[in-house]
Amino acid sequence: MTPLEWKEDRVLILDQRKLPLAIQWVTVMSADEMSLAIKNMVLRGAPLIGIAAAYALALESGREFSSPEKELEHLIAAGDILIKARPTAVNLKWAVNRILQKALEAFQKNEDIKTKVVIEAQMIHEEDRVMCSTIARHGSFILPEGVVLTHCNTGSLATGGEGTAYAVLKEGFREKKVRHVFACEARPFLQGSRLTAFELKEDNIPFTLITDSMAGHFLSRGAIQSVLVGADRIAANGDTANKIGTYSLAVLAYENKVPFYVAAPTSSFDRTIGSGFDIPIEERDPLEVLEIAGIRIAPEGIKVANPAFDVTPARFIRGIITEKGVAEFPYERSIGLLLENNLNLLNCEP
Ligand code: MRU
Repeated sequence: MTPLEWKEDRVLILDQRKLPLAIQWVTVMSADEMSLAIKNMVLRGAPLIGIAAAYALALESGREFSSPEKELEHLIAAGDILIKARPTAVNLKWAVNRILQKALEAFQKNEDIKTKVVIEAQMIHEEDRVMCSTIARHGSFILPEGVVLTHCNTGSLATGGEGTAYAVLKEGFREKKVRHVFACEARPFLQGSRLTAFELKEDNIPFTLITDSMAGHFLSRGAIQSVLVGADRIAANGDTANKIGTYSLAVLAYENKVPFYVAAPTSSFDRTIGSGFDIPIEERDPLEVLEIAGIRIAPEGIKVANPAFDVTPARFIRGIITEKGVAEFPYERSIGLLLENNLNLLNCEP
């Protein structure tokens, strides 16, 4: 299912908060509206929020400006608002910077900024679609046969294509390597039970939905042959931020000698950050923990923590599957080799 559509003067986004019970589309007309939609998780998933931010800047570049200088200033300010919508997924910053770089180049060359920005946003979207299928092929090649456990949602609802970790397990299923999937519900926002279960059902992939705390039980019984997750930001040393609960899964997989893989596009790497310790972790509204579907489940007046992500140390990760290949421990070296091998997927500037 495609969660976002570019319509020249607006962007249509599928309201993921309503899934799987209702299919509702929201019209976004500005960067302010997109930034709010990202913050409130109308749409979510690291690659998708990058694509959405790129289109939001394309919307802004279509306004009337008294001069190209004013247009550039306006885009920089809008980009700043978008980047602040969610702090952990680096794809957001990556996409905004890429658009702003294009806008600057157009300004310097006296070209039409809007034309260049729209083309760049569409290119980011299309490249992500292609990256998903390449990640799927690379991942399926290395994935052990059997049952895969996954966490959160990394499918077509989170990306511009078929997904990252999800696309790998989907390809693995096509190739008859993946027999069954265990999907964690991903408390508190329930991207696993609401979105991944929805996608697995649509794709006719046999699966079992479990609560996050059941993973250790199944891993210790030999019921799972690999764990496969996405990423929101990967530091230079391979430490990976992903949905809260990923770290626990990695430790449990390590203890039970089950390989743990991360699948992500190279836009999720942040080599300005040396280790996972420095990755900013988003703290979300306590109500996400205190309520389920708007119904209060805990006493009033209590302390609540709601970090949306955690960091899995690189030593627990068997491989990081990207569109450029698979990086392995020690990651400083293998990530460097992957990124410096400037493979040009769509024959456009990286
Ligand atoms: O809070 P979310 O739903 O945006 O978190 C999503 C995840 O943690 C995904 O695993 C990650 O963004 C990769 S999506 C391909």
